[in-house]
Formats: sequence, structure tokens, C-alpha cells
Amino acid sequence: MATAFTEDKDLDLAFPAEFIPAEVRAVLPEDLHIRPLSSTDYHRGHIPVLSVLTHAPDPGGLLRPTPTPANIGRGFKSNQVYFPIVIVSKANDQVVGTGTVFMEKKFLRGLSTVGHIEDIAVDKNQQGKKLGLRIIQALTGISEGLGAYKTILNCSDHNIPFYEKCGFSKKENEMVWPF
Ligand code: ACO
Repeated sequence: MATAFTEDKDLDLAFPAEFIPAEVRAVLPEDLHIRPLSSTDYHRGHIPVLSVLTHAPDPGGLLRPTPTPANIGRGFKSNQVYFPIVIVSKANDQVVGTGTVFMEKKFLRGLSTVGHIEDIAVDKNQQGKKLGLRIIQALTGISEGLGAYKTILNCSDHNIPFYEKCGFSKKENEMVWPF
């Protein structure tokens, strides 16, 4: 398990770190760092953090490149659709929070774009410290920066108060085709 904090310059990031608004980076506690997902975050506990959200089994070799310089560049790169981010503890270089926004190109409203927020998770020991709020602010900032006319998400009734505190309001309903 990695222990020394890894700087952005030594990572293969999914997209440029500058996409995350500077205001969000500035208000994060000193011992934490927010950045795009890197190709080696599998080794920093990215998948276990997601288990607070739902079943998140180990995806195996697909996400397990050996973190050597030879592998830099072979990892996940954003295709300009998915923008996954993480919050990392500087104390032990482990992921403590994560979330994604993906950008949907529309035919309507003059070929506009909508941002969809997905898979927000904060490690149980770190909940209640505004990290969820910071992840949402970062993702809505990325979405707005990429020109979306709105950012939307689905959540359980239980999480409605959290998203209201983040500035969202309830509108319409989610429909599911169950498999
Ligand atoms: N009910 C009411 N208020 C809440 C809740 C809740 N369930 N969760 C957070 N809040 C409030 C906080 O008290 C805080 O209020 P304050 O500003 O008055 O102090 C505000 O919302 C911000 O809370 P954070 O500290 O930023 O929340 P946290 O870091 O704990 O993250 C999260 C919230 C992401 C829901 C976390 O609890 C978590 O990982 N839960 C399990 C996974 C999950 O449910 N993820 C969301 C799924 S929906 C999706 O992914 C689109």
C-alpha cells in the first residue's frame, strides 16, 4: 500500500487538474488534495471507497496497472465525456472520496450539453467534513466550465437533504427498467 503522497506531476491524470475550480481546491483542508482520477488510483483504494455507495467488487486486472514509469500513459484518459475525480489523504496517499460527472451532448437546445453527476462516495471515517460538498462543487464547476446548461443527478430520498445543501432542487422523477 502506498504511503508517501504522490504529486500530480508524477501521475497519469484522466484530464487536466485545472478543470477543477481553484476555489474548491483552495477551501479543502490542508491534509487533503482534490484531483482527477489517475491510472494508478486502484492502488490507493479507489474501489473500496465506492463500497459505501453500493456493491463495488474488485474489477481485477482492468484497473490494476503496475504503478511503474513504464505504465504512465497507459492508464485511463478522459475521452472528454467522463470526468472522474478523487480526494486523496496526504498522510497516507489513499483515496477518501470520489465522484464523476459525464457530459451528454444533446440534439436539442442548439446542440447543448448536460452534465450528469454519478457515484459520489466519501469514506465513512471522513463523512461529515464537507468532502461530499467539495466533490459536488468540483463536478458542477467542471460541468459549467465545459458549457453545460444544467447538471443533474439521481439519488435516494435519504440523500435529498445533502443535495439540497449542495444547491440542487428536486425536479421530475427517475424511471427504471429493472433487469
Ligand atoms: N441527510 C441530511 N443532511 C446531510 C446528509 C444526509 N444524508 N448527508 C450530508 N448532509 C449535510 C451535512 O450535514 C452538511 O450540512 P451542513 O452544511 O449544514 O453542515 C452538508 O450536507 C454537506 O455534507 P458533507 O459533509 O459534505 O457530506 P459528506 O462528506 O458526508 O458526503 C455523502 C455526503 C456523499 C452522501 C456521504 O455521506 C456518502 O458517501 N454516503 C454514502 C454513499 C452515497 O449515498 N452517495 C451518494 C449517492 S447519489 C449519487 O451518487 C448521485
